[in-house]
Amino acid sequence: MTNKEASNESLRAVRIAGTGSYVPEKILSNQDLEKIVDTSDEWITSRTGIKARRIAAEGEFTSHLATHAARRAMQQANLQSEDIDLIIVATITPDTLTPATACYVQQALGAHRAVAFDISAACSGFLYALEFARVAIAGGTFNNALIIGAEKLSAFVNWTDRNTCVLFGDGAGAAVLTPASDEKKTGLILSTHLGTDGTKTEILNIPGGGSACPITLENAEQHLAALSMQGREVFKAAVNAMRRASETAIEKAGLSADDINLVIPHQANLRIIDAITDRLKIGKERVFINLDKYGNTSAAAVAIALDEATRNGAVQPGDRILLVAFGAGLTWASAVIEW
Ligand code: COA
Repeated sequence: MTNKEASNESLRAVRIAGTGSYVPEKILSNQDLEKIVDTSDEWITSRTGIKARRIAAEGEFTSHLATHAARRAMQQANLQSEDIDLIIVATITPDTLTPATACYVQQALGAHRAVAFDISAACSGFLYALEFARVAIAGGTFNNALIIGAEKLSAFVNWTDRNTCVLFGDGAGAAVLTPASDEKKTGLILSTHLGTDGTKTEILNIPGGGSACPITLENAEQHLAALSMQGREVFKAAVNAMRRASETAIEKAGLSADDINLVIPHQANLRIIDAITDRLKIGKERVFINLDKYGNTSAAAVAIALDEATRNGAVQPGDRILLVAFGAGLTWASAVIEW
């Protein structure tokens, strides 16, 4: 059953009523990285497509990035802080282990009516948040949800490891979800799909800093609270999972790949995106890319790209957008939206 059909029974259809994004001012280019680790602009560009990434200022936390993006999404949705009744922040780089980063965002926004919590689903986190907020609104429990993908990955990167430090960046993207109506149906969520494979937790993780491996004086030098990755394994898993997730969401929406006007994929690596869209037979002109500017911002990536694509004219009213993501867990997620 598609989400649209469900809405005809007893559930409410749900739409994206506004989007917003924010990236820190500081730009770290590939040339800058050449001075930090043994790498080159040529290597990074040809292997990933990334040219630059943004780095949060000292004292600028994930919740700050999230709050900026949230304000922009609320403004576009024409909602005030007191209208928001649910805040979900998707992040793997929370301000603190507890409380949730969403609580800091609630405080900053003064959204005192909102229930606020975080989701940890790595790069798929924004689309996980989208689905759980959609379900909560569809069933009538909540009305105006703020979902945010926000990361300060620069705080969890080993800046001496060229295998990983060139890939990631900081930023945040947000969306406001509300019930759809006949008059207001821009951003209608047509279908969603989520998946998890917990058998490959070791190929992409942050091994230290949790209860399994607290950071101590003895292990402090080992960069255990930094992203660790088996790049080739992740690459293969990402291509397979994102292709399948794309096909599933398109099918659940009752569409074919030809009906998709724009794919907004997780922005990790241009070669991963090309491999997926080639297999789906979707031409490059129908794929939104901004990883050259921001690198991989994990949970923020799809959210920032959605905001940029819908604000800069890459999306027209009535267009069908495929959102698809993949990340540590392993997790994957997809959605088809009618703009
Ligand atoms: N600069 C220069 N050389 C680098 C480098 C860098 N920044 N990073 C790695 N290398 C070297 C490696 O040391 C290796 O050298 P060796 O052959 O002498 O051992 C060589 O480049 C090739 O490494 P390899 O792992 O085969 O490269 P690759 O073509 O697979 O590309 C990634 C590496 C990380 C770009 C790629 O595997 C990838 O994108 N994986 C997925 C990452 C991802 O998306 N993660 C997040 C998912 S949500």
